[in-house]
Amino acid sequence: MTESHTFQTRLLHNKHKFDSQTGAVSVPIQQASTFHQADFDNPGIYDYSRSGNPTRDALEETIAGLEGGSRGFAFASGMAAISTSFMLLSKGDHVVISEDVYGGTFRMIHDVLYRFGIDHTFVDMTDLHEVATAIQPNTKVLYIETPSNPLLNITDIQAVSKLAKANDCLTFVDNTFMTPALQRPLELGADLVLHSATKFIAGHSDVVAGLAVTNHPELSDQLSFLQNSFGSILGAHDCWLVLRGLKTLDCRLKQSSESAYKVATYLHGHPQVEEVYYPGFSSHPGASTHAYQSKGAGAVLSFRLKDEAEVRSFSQKIELPVFAVSLGAVESILSYPAKMSHAAMPEEERLKRGITDGLLRLSVGLENPDDLIKDFETGLAYVKARNNLSSVQSG
Ligand SMILES: Cc1ncc(COP(=O)(O)O)c(C=O)c1O
Repeated sequence: MTESHTFQTRLLHNKHKFDSQTGAVSVPIQQASTFHQADFDNPGIYDYSRSGNPTRDALEETIAGLEGGSRGFAFASGMAAISTSFMLLSKGDHVVISEDVYGGTFRMIHDVLYRFGIDHTFVDMTDLHEVATAIQPNTKVLYIETPSNPLLNITDIQAVSKLAKANDCLTFVDNTFMTPALQRPLELGADLVLHSATKFIAGHSDVVAGLAVTNHPELSDQLSFLQNSFGSILGAHDCWLVLRGLKTLDCRLKQSSESAYKVATYLHGHPQVEEVYYPGFSSHPGASTHAYQSKGAGAVLSFRLKDEAEVRSFSQKIELPVFAVSLGAVESILSYPAKMSHAAMPEEERLKRGITDGLLRLSVGLENPDDLIKDFETGLAYVKARNNLSSVQSG
């Protein structure tokens, strides 16, 4: 990949711009499970697709280049990437992890790794003192999600990575919300970047995929071994879909982020909305850290209505966003963390983290933001009308 070009250009002009054998301007989908070996004493580069596949190699090389890493790995889902990376740990190890991580990561740490003797401490990652205090002699990984899901809290990647290095720990960063278009954790000192490529990277709600990137030779070897051992690799066709999505990442994210700012500003000024969480606001407690470590606020925001009844009324009335699990697609996606992304979290833990029954998360897509605002206006007016009606009935 030519490093002198900007990120936007490198999305298109990289080693996989065209197929070297045919000139085809699209990476060939090598839909093969196995590869003929002319000489079993000298096997070719590829022998079996779990261990390596040319289409997967193209994606893995592309994402490694874009994240500024030396090696990338493609997995069957974001959770497969995250779970396989946790296999770097051994019985008796300990992980310090953001308390408001994605619900599936919470479940993996809390309900799965724990059974294998890998312990954890959930912390407020924005509080460096709390992070430092949680580090134990057996801590091996500091695990960050920034902005976090769904409250968009900001962690200082460079500061946590320094703390990790001083304590012989690795720093893992889930970069799903930002993508390398906006934030490159390896350049800030992190050791491993993780993605649910299902989201902005692929971008079209048509593939479930995960990626991991490192610039650490030893970690690369270990992850390569684990990817083959665990076997949760991404299939060739899905690799191709992610590669195709990547080409438009920069322009999709630019447009969606611009629209997200407009929608967030609208919601912030609405009397029916109790709170808006968006790192693009200068009033956000993590705004300056976020501005230092990333190139934009992204396209995800959360906002709080009073309670579940208001969420129900609002979601009944709005028409444009799909009401669904997931984010980072061309269409706007509204989700309800309490019953969707964080349903795996016990209610008490969820409420402790501020994921209340009135919280909604919005991933802004490529619709005209004025149409989204008009739609939300209708939804919020309906919430108000329902509230007025019930106060008249109870009065
Ligand atoms: C921040 C974050 N990380 C990881 C995941 C898991 O990814 P996947 O659904 O591709 O397994 C998600 C899914 O929503 C996510 O939002």
